[in-house]
Amino acid sequence: MQLEEAKNIIEGLTKQIDHYNHLYYQKSTSEISDYDFDQLLAKLIALESQFPELKSPNSPTQRVGGAITKEFETVTHKFAMLSLGNTYSKEELEEFDTRVQKGLDSDDYEYLCELKFDGVAISLTYENGLLTRAVTRGDGNRGDDVTNNVKTIRTIPLRINHPISPQFEVRGEVFMPKEVFNQINKEREDIGEMLYANARNTASGSLKMQDSSAVAKRKLDCYLYSLLGDELTTPTHEAALESMNEMGFNISPTYRKCKNINEVINFITDWEEKRHELPLETDGIVIKVNSISQQKKLGFTAKNPRWAISFKFKAENAVTKLNNVTYQVGRTGAITPVAELEPVLLAGTTVKRASLHNANEIERLDLRVGDFVFVEKGGEIIPKVTGVDITQRTSSSTPIHFVTKCPECQTELLRKEGEAVHYCSNINGCAPQIKGRIEHFIQRKALNIDSLGERTISQLYECHLVSSPADLFDLTYENVIDLDGFKDLSTRNLLSGIEASKISPFENVLFGIGIRYVGRTVAEKLAHYFKNIDAILHATYEELIEVPEIGERIAKSVVFFFQQPDNIAEIGRLKKSGLIFEIDESIYQVENDILQHKTFVVSGVFENYGRDELKEIIKKNGGKVVSSISGKLDYLVAGEKMGPSKKQKAEKLDVSIISETEFNKLINQ
Ligand code: IVH
Repeated sequence: MQLEEAKNIIEGLTKQIDHYNHLYYQKSTSEISDYDFDQLLAKLIALESQFPELKSPNSPTQRVGGAITKEFETVTHKFAMLSLGNTYSKEELEEFDTRVQKGLDSDDYEYLCELKFDGVAISLTYENGLLTRAVTRGDGNRGDDVTNNVKTIRTIPLRINHPISPQFEVRGEVFMPKEVFNQINKEREDIGEMLYANARNTASGSLKMQDSSAVAKRKLDCYLYSLLGDELTTPTHEAALESMNEMGFNISPTYRKCKNINEVINFITDWEEKRHELPLETDGIVIKVNSISQQKKLGFTAKNPRWAISFKFKAENAVTKLNNVTYQVGRTGAITPVAELEPVLLAGTTVKRASLHNANEIERLDLRVGDFVFVEKGGEIIPKVTGVDITQRTSSSTPIHFVTKCPECQTELLRKEGEAVHYCSNINGCAPQIKGRIEHFIQRKALNIDSLGERTISQLYECHLVSSPADLFDLTYENVIDLDGFKDLSTRNLLSGIEASKISPFENVLFGIGIRYVGRTVAEKLAHYFKNIDAILHATYEELIEVPEIGERIAKSVVFFFQQPDNIAEIGRLKKSGLIFEIDESIYQVENDILQHKTFVVSGVFENYGRDELKEIIKKNGGKVVSSISGKLDYLVAGEKMGPSKKQKAEKLDVSIISETEFNKLINQ
């Protein structure tokens, strides 16, 4: 293919993909199947790697990430990123309104009210329609250049067909939708990781990750609320929002124009409760004078604009009495202390319990039973105790001594050196751990047995019918029909659900057996790398850390899991029941045999591919991927940051070392 022809095709594909992305992410509609969309993207990726000189930094292929930022460059903002003054009462709002009226020397003005999105402020610069820079707020004058990471946010246009001006800036809030945040925490819980505190901090942490492909997985989103530029003529803030919307930016449809401060107060009242139904966290309302010329007239104080203010929703916290501390045992044996509270109304719901995380947290808070405590509900689902109201402490309050024995099975608790969490080691005799493992095994991402629920698992366990996942497959009609609430149909449903789960793919089963730190994604990586359970079972620590994205902690945990005879016996029984313990290779059929009989080692970081992706391409082209360099090896595909020892070894053994571009040539020959 000639360069000119490739250029035309790339342009066409880019336009198409941008169009479908916009429809999908901003308008929630789709004119194309997922499969066809993926095909378009794959075609663009292939062409860009064949003609790297045609790859634009604003290509939609950037969405999947891959770029590594070692250190974020500090950038000075063209217009300082100020913050808003806060108000907490309607009286203070009326005072703000009086100041506006005085400053304008008129009562002919209106307000534009928006929600205050709880995320991370971002400033995006567009030049000739292209996103050229994304910078965090930083100290207001200088922020961090996080462009590569921001490009992975699907609702942020990388190019604009009809920009309002050759150069302009838009500002908004990057946030993590509540659903995504809950999902991430659920996954962390699944593998026994500490939970993230709230969506805002998680969004902020995600934006500062070094590997943008990891950021892409965080599914961040962004609402824009400011348009800035030297040559802009938009007369009102409302017009600016409309103009941003037309250019393809994500504008929350929740804003409203208000004629006076009373209408503003009504807007606040409307959202005070309703905001909990929004897909993201909000912590207030932002009130802005609508006319841009009036905004200019009012100007700024040293810190804040005089034409805008925020009304913060009542802090979502309450004071209540700590009646007791109880202890919960998780699937992994981790003990979580729970505050049992005098019921209190908080953010629309009655709160009776709050997590206390671990013993350090109790110590840090200097908590005593009988204390009045501050309970807060931020972005997190579970409220937390944030402090003690010492002024209300009485002499009858009693210090908390963290339990030394498991509250469920009385086993002496362990606390590993340097770890905050206490554990119960009675893996096979502690009820919540056993039930937890079965619940983990049947969940959607594992064996997906939806005819089984928590209550039935409890019953099955208490009736001594099931004490491990493998027992599920030995259940008979007679066993189940005798359980509480079971009749003929429900019994047959349950059994057929268990039977149907036997076709779950290997990666689901591997996740389901519950190796600590092995979440669904890691299970998938291990399954595809090793192909079957026996290979994983025999893999050494050194071999495991060779697997892309498998770190020391996971490798140690996998080795430990397979050293336990009980686990080996359990897997043996699951195998006997007919569960799948190997990858179905027919799904990964070879597409052609260009690389037949050739062996490859892939090492380092690549511009256009993830390492796993590259390996998949080799396999699809008939090649074989191995992990260590030997004299028999045909090619070492070398990316950036490849270890020097690998290179030396390959050179010594006369193995061809090829770059990513040379690899592309090889498969496109
Ligand atoms: S306007 C001059 N509008 O709140 C400041 N800010 O303290 C103009 N925020 O840093 C900001 N939602 O991160 C504006 N609808 C909204 C907002 C909003 C959230 C954040 C933003 C800013 C902080 C102000």
